[in-house]
Amino acid sequence: MRQPAIIANWKMYKTLTEAEEFLQRFPEALGHVSGIEMIICAPFVALASLSRQMEGTSLILGAQNMHWEKEGPFTGEISPLMLREVGVRYVILGHSERRKHFGEDDEIVNKKIKSAFSFGLSPILCVGESLEQRERGQTEAVLAQQVRKALHGLHPREEEMLSRLIVAYEPVWAIGTGKPAGGEDAERAAEVIRTALQDQVGRELPEKIRVLYGGSVNEENVTDFTTRPAIDGALVGGSSLKEQSFARMIQAVYHERRG
Ligand code: PGA
Repeated sequence: MRQPAIIANWKMYKTLTEAEEFLQRFPEALGHVSGIEMIICAPFVALASLSRQMEGTSLILGAQNMHWEKEGPFTGEISPLMLREVGVRYVILGHSERRKHFGEDDEIVNKKIKSAFSFGLSPILCVGESLEQRERGQTEAVLAQQVRKALHGLHPREEEMLSRLIVAYEPVWAIGTGKPAGGEDAERAAEVIRTALQDQVGRELPEKIRVLYGGSVNEENVTDFTTRPAIDGALVGGSSLKEQSFARMIQAVYHERRG
């Protein structure tokens, strides 16, 4: 059984003070929940402080990007070593906003994925088709290609490492638009992603790799996705910014799983 994960992607929102306040209030908003991995991907400047605040809680810290080198003359960049040292365990890689605004292509994403693994970080790989690609009927081909290129050169024998990977299906047209994918379409995409993983690393390992859905997920629609066997949770932007709505979303998944 794969453990569900609900991941907050705060993007470029929240100052350090706002991030700290969220974390102070969140446990009370959440109440008792178990069996769900809760990951918060915060802006870089908040990571060290949030890491200390998260000690003794069940929250896990993530970052939203990183460079692939350990150190070097890369002004303005943050390295995997730096992330690990402040207590980061997950890192979002290949988000469509990075691909679109910062020119990240599959080759760069591949370098980052390999680097994250080698520094003991777990990548959250984002893949997804644009509206144009969807309208041209290219969704499945785009997903398979993004997965294949992102994982190029990784070996199935590195099983322990690869099983820490999370892949998020994030159709570009659904991000921040209030128009999520339909549950069935998202499930189909998750299956395509798992098949692409199997083509890359063999049949068995992808059964351990979690595939999430992301794009306009909120407390009302989250279980449309998480009730589907192929989907192991959600990557959430806008609705993760307020502790009440993020907490209610996690509670919804928790109650639905308990039946
Ligand atoms: P959204 O963002 O939930 O605001 O659509 C999701 C994401 O970009 O990861």
